[in-house]
Amino acid sequence: MIYSTYMPRTLNTQLTEKQAKLFNYLEKFEQKNNYPPTFEKMAQRFHVSIPTIHQRVDYLEKKGRVTREKGVKHSIRILKTMQELAPSIEIKNTQTVIIENTKVSRNVKDYLNKVYNGDVMDVLKDLPDNSVDMIFGDPDYNVGIKYNENNYTRKFEDYINWYIELTKESMRVLKKDGNLFMMNYPKQNAHLRVKYLDSLFPDINEYVWVYNTNVGHTPRRFTTAHRSILHVRKSEDNKFFKDAVALPYKNPTDRRVKQNIANGSKGRMPYSWFEFNLVKNVSKEKTYHSCQIPQKLTEMLISGATKPKDTVFVLFGGSGAEIDVCKKMNRNFISAEIDKKYCDIINKRLTTGKIATEHKLVKGRKRT
Ligand SMILES: C[S@@+](CC[C@H](N)C(=O)[O-])C[C@H]1O[C@@H](n2cnc3c(N)ncnc32)[C@H](O)[C@@H]1O
Repeated sequence: MIYSTYMPRTLNTQLTEKQAKLFNYLEKFEQKNNYPPTFEKMAQRFHVSIPTIHQRVDYLEKKGRVTREKGVKHSIRILKTMQELAPSIEIKNTQTVIIENTKVSRNVKDYLNKVYNGDVMDVLKDLPDNSVDMIFGDPDYNVGIKYNENNYTRKFEDYINWYIELTKESMRVLKKDGNLFMMNYPKQNAHLRVKYLDSLFPDINEYVWVYNTNVGHTPRRFTTAHRSILHVRKSEDNKFFKDAVALPYKNPTDRRVKQNIANGSKGRMPYSWFEFNLVKNVSKEKTYHSCQIPQKLTEMLISGATKPKDTVFVLFGGSGAEIDVCKKMNRNFISAEIDKKYCDIINKRLTTGKIATEHKLVKGRKRT
């Protein structure tokens, strides 16, 4: 059994603003005095009743931020400091980035090489900070695509808020030298970039995957035949393995190129645009999943950003295309897929190394 059924948590472990303020106060008080404040003191400080403070502390306890012995004065103990819970990230400007943590500590090893049948947000929120080497996100693009019987399209603004939240959690989980790639249509990625990423992380790179398409042609504009891939790093010290993705130089007789080759260069870095065919219905890697990414594309990203045994979080399992690449390239993976039928495709694909006949298309259609 490769995938696990994920039990959604009943409690949202994010702190509300009031709980965060109380937690901050507790932390500062303890640092200054070496003991925690009384409930009376906290009630005075926040101008609320003692039962209200009890209630807030109860929540902090349920959310894993503090422990206490009931009925014992000065017994509240902070489980982790705010700084550890919400690390500030190296950034270009002076703004401090707080990425809220959701769980005190979990071992990433418990999650390796599993695909969770559930909401990716729940899995992300359970993972510790700075724990995976690469994240690849190919979410639903909010353009009305149907996945089996489901359609996840919602109001554009709600989608962007969700997309930002997804990326924020992903950045918390990404290692300091890791790389995140988010694929989407250009408009969705433009909003993510401007509303969240640009001001917080060092130079965001936008790559473009271009392909030929027979659909989407209209007489009033050029046909969209590309997707945007945002490459986000927590710091400028991201690891990257140029030799693993280097392409032959276009002009090997050029004096500077000759010098590079003499210095040991294995070739040039690929450009910021990549051309790969869409996964055709007749392709060996095609399943009945409605929106597959060519494996050659993820192979290139994974080769550039990780080495064997590193961990890649494939946010959306889909047909298992990217997970299969991880497995074949000896990378650990973590993934989530909300649709049980897609989990079945992934499971079979990973256990047998090929796509089961019942998961392939017949004459371009899903078998009935
Ligand atoms: C664009 S597809 C990914 C396809 C994948 N790249 C591939 O090549 O097979 C997005 C997938 O996300 C799944 N999904 C949608 N919302 C999800 C959520 N909140 N958590 C986990 N999976 C989700 C959908 O069922 C769909 O399979």
